[in-house]
Amino acid sequence: MKNQPCANSGQCGRENPDSGVNTQRRRMMNIVATSLVAPLPFASSEALAQPVTTLLVEADAEADFKPIRPADLAVAKPLLVFPFDPKTGTPKNESRLSKIVLVRLPEDQMTPETRARSASGVVAYSSICTHQGCDVKTWMSKESVLACYCHASKFNLFDGAKVVSGPASSPLPAIPLTLAGEFLALAAPPVKPGE
Ligand code: FES
Repeated sequence: MKNQPCANSGQCGRENPDSGVNTQRRRMMNIVATSLVAPLPFASSEALAQPVTTLLVEADAEADFKPIRPADLAVAKPLLVFPFDPKTGTPKNESRLSKIVLVRLPEDQMTPETRARSASGVVAYSSICTHQGCDVKTWMSKESVLACYCHASKFNLFDGAKVVSGPASSPLPAIPLTLAGEFLALAAPPVKPGE
């Protein structure tokens, strides 16, 4: 089938809907959607017994949308994810502004407030820097902080992503997590800094 010109500016820049990548992606989406009727190969019946909720999938995944478990994350290795709707088998929003950064950390080093928003040691924050909107995704192991590569703001994820050093002046919005069976899921809307 011939490529069609991009008539819808909202779709411009996206992959050709007839490309192999997209075909593979649609195939995987069908697998996930179908699997909500038949058991998912990667989901326990316990998870499927939960009411439909918002899970999380790797933001860079091309096709294979696998909901993320806490054990999938190595300690102190940030992962960018999108909210994922298991009912449709697709991310709820693939805009970069909806990206979330997950990091698994020792729970005993978190403040009580941060621990209450975490699930199995995993904390989640908006990955959009509160300075000028770059992705915040670099873990600085010496300082145990998450850093923005644009202007080097640093955030303390053990304590509500408070700013350790600027130029950012506000924390990253916190995303409360819970478990849906074995998978990480959103527990509540993002918590704006200061709430
Ligand atoms: S955009 Fe992150 S420090 Fe400037």
